[in-house]
Amino acid sequence: MLFEWALSLVNPAPLRLRRLGYVRQSGRLHARSRRCRAAWAPHLTRARGVIIAAAEATAGRGSVVVLGSGLLDDVPLKALADLFDRVSLVDAVHPWPARLTARRHRNVALVTAEISAGLGDPGLAEVCASADLIVSANLLSQLPIVPIEAHEARGREAPPQLGTQIVETHLAALDRLASGTARVCLVTDIVQRVEDRAGRVTDSLDLMFGVALPPPVQVWDWEIAPFGEIGRCHRLIHQIHAYPDWRAARA
Ligand SMILES: C[S@@+](CC[C@H](N)C(=O)[O-])C[C@H]1O[C@@H](n2cnc3c(N)ncnc32)[C@H](O)[C@@H]1O
Repeated sequence: MLFEWALSLVNPAPLRLRRLGYVRQSGRLHARSRRCRAAWAPHLTRARGVIIAAAEATAGRGSVVVLGSGLLDDVPLKALADLFDRVSLVDAVHPWPARLTARRHRNVALVTAEISAGLGDPGLAEVCASADLIVSANLLSQLPIVPIEAHEARGREAPPQLGTQIVETHLAALDRLASGTARVCLVTDIVQRVEDRAGRVTDSLDLMFGVALPPPVQVWDWEIAPFGEIGRCHRLIHQIHAYPDWRAARA
């Protein structure tokens, strides 16, 4: 808790995004990622592998955009910076460890943008339009969280379709980008299972809010909260779907 609070104070972000809760969300993720480092490692390795394969299969090597770059835990930044002339890292919050890592590469730029309503921000739209590869890196299921929590914080229920709309908006943006010359790579968690120590599923949550995705090219489990993180007797598992080439998956 203390670590999360300290991160909320030191991580830079525009006041509007701080007020909306993105810095708090980033701090929460950061603290959990460090507590659950060992449990998360297999997932992060697989996600990095998908992104590297997508990068190597991309014909143009001008620029790559990573949406939801966050802590860069699942982003193979060195490989991308070696393969492409320019790397743009896009997130509502770029935490300090990611900023320091990015500074080691002369061709890496940070773009701070809130993208739950799409990729229409003028600066971002330009960066995406000229990209050879666009990666959506474990971002999609996170997009509805802050907007829904903002309603709840005001004591109101979020509009019932809000989560669905946000997921559909992001997928539509990826569709548009994939209909041009860019390759689009999507890695996302789609469902959360709560499991007990006997391996029984005691609850599950559709992280896509009812939006169906095409059959994935790779599927794996991410133990996002091992036993002890949310309680002694339960753990949280997220199922990941990976699409190294979104255009091919949609065809
Ligand atoms: C699970 S993390 C992704 C992991 C990240 N790729 C990494 O390697 O650390 C989700 C990221 O999405 C970002 N995010 C959530 N909602 C966002 C929004 N509306 N606009 C931009 N970024 C957002 C968060 O700040 C966070 O960094």
